[in-house]
Amino acid sequence: MNNNELKELYNSLSIEEKIGQLFQVTGYLLDSDEVLTGPLCDIGLTEEDIKLSGSVVGLGSKGAESLTRIQKKHIERHPKGIPLIFMMDIIHGYRTIYPMPLAMGATFNPELMRECAEMAAVEGAASGVHATFSPMVDLVRDIRWGRVLESTGEDVYLNCVMARSMVEGYQGTNIAGKGTLAACVKHFAAYGAAEGGRDYNSVELSERTLRDFYLPAYKAAIDAGCKLVMTAFNTVDGIPSTANKKLMRNILRTEMGFNNTVISDFGAISELVMHGLAENGAEAARLSLEAGCDIDMMSGSYSRYIKELIEKGEVSEELLEESVMRVLQLKNELGLFENPYKGADVEREKEICLCERHKQIALRAAAESFVLLKNEDSLLPLDKAKKIAFIGPYIDRRELLSSWAITGETEDVSTILEEHAAYSSEIKAGFAKGCPILPGGTVMDGFTALEPLTATEGEVEEYKAEAVELAKNSDIAVLFIGEHYLQSGEAASRSNPSIPEIQRELFEAIYRVNKNIVVVLFSGRPLVLDGLEEKAGAILNVWMPGTMGAKAIWKVLLGEMEPSGRLPMSFPVNVGQIPVHYDELRTGRPWMPDEKERFQSKYLDVRNAPLYSFGYGLGYTEFEISKVSLSDAELTAEGA
Ligand code: BGC
Repeated sequence: MNNNELKELYNSLSIEEKIGQLFQVTGYLLDSDEVLTGPLCDIGLTEEDIKLSGSVVGLGSKGAESLTRIQKKHIERHPKGIPLIFMMDIIHGYRTIYPMPLAMGATFNPELMRECAEMAAVEGAASGVHATFSPMVDLVRDIRWGRVLESTGEDVYLNCVMARSMVEGYQGTNIAGKGTLAACVKHFAAYGAAEGGRDYNSVELSERTLRDFYLPAYKAAIDAGCKLVMTAFNTVDGIPSTANKKLMRNILRTEMGFNNTVISDFGAISELVMHGLAENGAEAARLSLEAGCDIDMMSGSYSRYIKELIEKGEVSEELLEESVMRVLQLKNELGLFENPYKGADVEREKEICLCERHKQIALRAAAESFVLLKNEDSLLPLDKAKKIAFIGPYIDRRELLSSWAITGETEDVSTILEEHAAYSSEIKAGFAKGCPILPGGTVMDGFTALEPLTATEGEVEEYKAEAVELAKNSDIAVLFIGEHYLQSGEAASRSNPSIPEIQRELFEAIYRVNKNIVVVLFSGRPLVLDGLEEKAGAILNVWMPGTMGAKAIWKVLLGEMEPSGRLPMSFPVNVGQIPVHYDELRTGRPWMPDEKERFQSKYLDVRNAPLYSFGYGLGYTEFEISKVSLSDAELTAEGA
């Protein structure tokens, strides 16, 4: 459609149909013929609202077959036949899951990042998705925040480069194409600076820090042509982002020149009341629209209040038009008026999802993301002539995908034990679980998906005894330990982000009988290691490595692949050091270890430097660094 046709379409819509374009619902609401009851009624949704809605947040429904069915039904019952945009959290892969974004940051490889995003787009698009809620580019400095896993880390430049790669990988050169997705950069702005690392908490930053550190990566995504921006749950300077005019109008629209669609985070508009900014839902809707937030993700506020606000003259029709036109424009750019199903193709979906080529990319990405933190006496790569014990709760787990891999399937993931089959004739290996990942009866509030963690005390002792016996009779013990995958991600802040106690006890028990310990550490964030790093002979940090994680781990342990990751975020020595990041400003009283001066910027009980800093990581290769020489005596802004 050309602009005039789009404008004509807009003019032909009733006020309810216009407002409908700004309302996003979940897939299962559109896919069900059930009469609305329960919480959705509480937010004031009617059958009519759903019929007129403009887009879908992909929870509850996925796959080409079901998204095609939903689209068809929607077009048939929408008075003007306007198609939906299907948006989904494709965070680190659609079906083939590559390592979590922080791990991708560790690759320092923007080309690989682009390749991974491209493969996610190809799979997602074939499955009927039109837009992904990615990249998340929030700069992070606090490992207590569970969402650090979604970011590429603490460095502004790395975040910018990776943001650009992701946008280019998802969107390609034509978002109307069959294998591409529109990208949505999030969460605007500075969600990563939530105070105390507690999710959804307020953000307090100086203007300088906001601009120098937190904003550039969003800008990089926008400059790369990103089609959507998502608001953040947090306040910036006391005002929730979703209604923060300075942030959304002055900075995002005027300064950064973003002319495309802004979407709220899930339910964020109605939360303005709880924030204390808006007195009621109507005011929340008005403030958000005024701030330039076009789409209301699942709060129902726009459908419920905008019409009334316009009738009362509290919101202008021009404001409504501005937002609705942006959504129609996006649909147009996606080519949905010509082909509402875009890339959805059941056959292609089967063929492309988890195809061999994609698995190979995910395998390479995993190995490139692993960070070798320690390797004393060259314990790694493992010496196949030695007798080796493989121990720990992660030896038989398939949960290697992260809590944000919501479109992935754990059944696609092989375990460490299964992948050993390829080497069974070469390695004298013994296996023991050692302990459960968390103690029996552990409850994590709000996580219904948590498997029953039921091991009794007797069973725990049995697992441990078996593992100790095995370690005693082996030359090397490789321990596969770490966080449960639900201990990181959204709403998964931890005041003490360390290895679960039960696994620490296992480590100590093994250490008593065998000092040659290699730790393979799984986690959604840098962890506090509580001195374990001193006792372990080698530590390989593997994050949440994705579908091909177990295979990549074997290859790296055995030296068939190089662990080439470098830390994108520092590991603090302890929680008290947080925030600790490499690009701190200088103080007037820097710590100088050689001077026995009391009045220096330091702690009495811990050093200033992190345990492992940004950029740190060992390799299997030995390097010799020769004398540095400069190519020029002057460095220009262009870097020539
Ligand atoms: C998260 C977003 C996500 C959205 C839709 C929210 O809770 O903060 O990052 O894109 O849900 O699933």
